[in-house]
Amino acid sequence: MFLALSSIVPSVVASYALLHNFTGTSFLSGFNFFSGSDPTHGFVRYQSEADARSQDLVAVSDNSIYIGVDYKNKAPNGRASVRIESKELYKKGLFVLDLAHMPSSTCGTWPSFWTWGSEGRWPDLGEIDIIEGIHTNTINAFSVHTAEGCSIDGKGMFCALGTLKTLNCYIGAPGQLSNAGCGTEASSPSSFGSPFNAAGGGVYAMEWTSQFIKMWFFPRNAIPTDLDGSGTVDPAGWGTPQANFQGACDFDKMFGEQRIVLDTTFCGDWAGAVWDSCKKVGSDCNTYVANNPEVFKESYWRVNYLRIFE
Ligand SMILES: *[C@@H]1O[C@H](CO)[C@@H](O)[C@H](O)[C@H]1NC(C)=O
Repeated sequence: MFLALSSIVPSVVASYALLHNFTGTSFLSGFNFFSGSDPTHGFVRYQSEADARSQDLVAVSDNSIYIGVDYKNKAPNGRASVRIESKELYKKGLFVLDLAHMPSSTCGTWPSFWTWGSEGRWPDLGEIDIIEGIHTNTINAFSVHTAEGCSIDGKGMFCALGTLKTLNCYIGAPGQLSNAGCGTEASSPSSFGSPFNAAGGGVYAMEWTSQFIKMWFFPRNAIPTDLDGSGTVDPAGWGTPQANFQGACDFDKMFGEQRIVLDTTFCGDWAGAVWDSCKKVGSDCNTYVANNPEVFKESYWRVNYLRIFE
């Protein structure tokens, strides 16, 4: 008799092995400092590595790296900050960021951890936003941006814990705000800004395959045990993700090799455009950011590690 092979072969386990481990004093060896003008038109002056170090905007220790902004000086021409981009490009894999702290929920700020196809014309090689929010936000926004021809279906079978906001990943999709892409709002109340910090931070993870892009957020007290740093990791055991991008989208075509970016900008295309919720602190975003250095003392990232698995 013939046995159907599929009935006796266990399903393949998609476990990942460590490719890069950026942490502690070697963290910055994996990154370049971007010091050009902000492509998102923020009221910011991104610093070179030498300038960032001399102004104490970055400080490295054995266990973590501090990446902050100028909170001491008035800044009539834009506030000094840091944007780092990975030297390497990545196509598919598992990306895990452990943060002890991220920029707090503060009017004027727009911090993000994201990837983009920097070797092509944006957004032809796609953009994947893992951590993003503005002003006094306390809930993370996960999103994906593409050229025309990629949408997610948001059906129950592709379930996610977060709330689906927009389905079309195309930046020019009719019926969506320009550049919205497809997006999901985190379900966790400690996923962003001040409540994230109060809870001791946590881990963000993004898994990118030919079939989907999934993203997880784990508060400090709920990090999967296979992320303890000792061996392979398997997101199949991590439970339902916060965001789950899959549907009518050829992921291999819409997403090229990505560079990983961590930055804090101010105002600009998003935070500058929606100032209403912050009107009580100042008449406009740029003026507020220029004149109130002290409110940005908590606008820093403290990274425990960034690990990339294949
Ligand atoms: C990453 O590097 C740090 C510092 O060298 C080390 O303590 C940790 O065990 C490494 N993690 C993995 C998964 O190799």
